[in-house]
Order: sequence, then C-alpha cells, then structure tokens
Amino acid sequence: MKERLQSIKQEAITEIEAADTQKSLQDVRVQFLGKKGKITEVLKGMGKLSKEERPVIGQLANEVRDEITASIEEKADLLEKQAIEEQLKAETIDVTLPGRPTHTGGPHILMKTIRDIEDLFIGMGYEVAEGPEVETDYYNFEALNLPKGHPARDMQDSFYITEELLMRTHTSPVQARTLNAHEGRGPVKIICPGKVYRRDTDDATHSHQFTQIEGLYVDEHITMSDLKGTLNVLAKHLFGEDREIRLRPSFFPFTEPSVEMDISCKVCNGDGCSVCKHTGWIEILGAGLVHPNVLEMAGFDSKKYTGFAFGMGPERIAMLKYGIEDIRHFYTNDVRFLKQFHQV
Ligand code: PHE
Repeated sequence: MKERLQSIKQEAITEIEAADTQKSLQDVRVQFLGKKGKITEVLKGMGKLSKEERPVIGQLANEVRDEITASIEEKADLLEKQAIEEQLKAETIDVTLPGRPTHTGGPHILMKTIRDIEDLFIGMGYEVAEGPEVETDYYNFEALNLPKGHPARDMQDSFYITEELLMRTHTSPVQARTLNAHEGRGPVKIICPGKVYRRDTDDATHSHQFTQIEGLYVDEHITMSDLKGTLNVLAKHLFGEDREIRLRPSFFPFTEPSVEMDISCKVCNGDGCSVCKHTGWIEILGAGLVHPNVLEMAGFDSKKYTGFAFGMGPERIAMLKYGIEDIRHFYTNDVRFLKQFHQV
C-alpha cells in the first residue's frame, strides 16, 4: 500500500505539472482528491490492514494528500498569474498609435466674415450694438427720414406683421435707436450686425433673409473724408492692400450726401471681366453723411453734430472674397460647402 501511495503521488505530480489550464487542474484535483478519487480509494482499503499498519498508512495517506493539495494550489496560483499576464499583454494600449480621425466643426463662413469685420471696427474704437428683428414702422422708416407715403418706401418691399410692425428691412433702424438712447450727446460710434428681411424671391443673388452690418459714427466735426478714410481701411482689410476704392453719388433718404462704394475688381484688376460686368469696379456698400433730419429726430443738434453711416451685406462680401456663386449656399448648410472654409 505504501508503494501504491508513492506511485499515486508521483502520478499526481506529473499530471499537475502537465495541467496547463484551471480546468485541467480541477480535473486532476477530482481524479486524486475527490470523493471517488484515488486517495479515497486507498483509505477505503484501510480496513483490510493490520492494527499496526493502519496508523502508518493513514499518516502516509494524509501526507500524500496534503502534498498533492499543496502542489495543486501552487499550480493554481501560477496559472492565475499567467492568465493575468496574458490578459495584460493582450490589452496593452499603444499610446503612440495615431487617434481615430473625428469630424471637427468650425464657425460658419458668414459668421467668420461678420466677426472679422466686427473685429476691425472694434479695433478702431467702435462698439457693437444690436436691435430687434421685428421692428416698428417708426424706426425702420420714419426715424430714418422716410415718412409715410415717401416714395423710397417702395424700394423696400417688406414683410409687415401689423400696420405698425414689420421684419426690419435693413440694420439702419439700430442707428436711430442708438442715437435716441444717447439723448443728444456724442460721440456715437457703433457697428450693428444682424439679420434683415425683404420680400424677394430667392435666387442666386437674392434671399428673403440675409445679413447686414451697419456702421455709424456721430461726433463734432465728422466729414466725408472721415467716411472715405474709414471705408478705405475696410476695403483694404477685406480685399487686400492693392484694392482701390471709389465713391459714386447715390441716394438714401437717411444720408445726405449719399454714396455707393466700389472696389477695383480683384479678378481683372480693373481691366474689365465678367465678375465686374466689364466695368473694372464692384459695388460693395452704401454710405453717406447722416441726414440732419435723422439727427434732429433723435434729439441731436445737427449744427453741432455731424456723422457718417454705412451699410453692407456680409454675404455679398463673402461671395466676392471666396468666389461663392450662390447666396443660397449660406443657408442650405451643405456640410461639403461649409467644410471648405474651416481653414480660412
Ligand atoms: N440701409 C441701406 C440699405 O439697406 C444701406 C445704408 C446704410 C446706406 C447706411 C447708407 C447708410 O441698402
């Protein structure tokens, strides 16, 4: 029986060594130490032994069982460590791998154009002012020297909400609102970006809703040359140092004299091409000296104060600057269109 126990021990140790998974190790455990295992079998046969032999074999059987148990546990620890190591190896993160590309957003090209113009004027001491998009007839027309029945009201086909309320047709009402708020005291130096609305049929160059940026500078001794100098800075900032500007006489009820500013065509440099309709010049904005009536209606003494105002369309500026051919691109928000301008 002694030999039998010794050989069981040998056998167990060989099998424990060979076991390479927790599962096979568990099988070994059952095979040797289980209820029907080999050690139990030996113990069952103890009855046949003599009184003297029994304790000796009993003790030996216990020792063998303890040794087998110990080496199974040792092996179990080892297997567990190996499993953890393998898992760690399999799950290592290579921090040097490049990341997965994600889609990045960016400001809309129209917003960028507006911010760019805002920044330029803020740098020249202007403040940004805003006004309501649903405007009163008074601020949209009357306070701008367009009394009821004035023929110039026909120039602006408007979305009326009631007799007295409409979607503003331009940002000029912010001029009147700001002047009013200043209660006759200058200087007033603002630019006003915002949405405006007109009853136009949408096509490549018209939209029933678009944006404008208004500028207003009222103080003592403001003259046409201040306006011209300011517009020159603007044109060169937007379109390059080598752009020329010219002011053409025009008409707006709220400015006198009124002008339109053209810049020399950057495509043909003034020679004439399809972009400038063969004139060499491109119209950019409307401007003029603030009409005395507008100043007076807002409580300013027009003998003491003068000023200039201008209004431009950022869509038109962005279209010229980036070669965008259809104003509707700004509002249909096709990502392929928008993405092109993330880097500009
Ligand atoms: N409000 C005018 C327009 O919508 C533009 C303008 C603004 C002209 C200020 C002169 C002075 O066309």
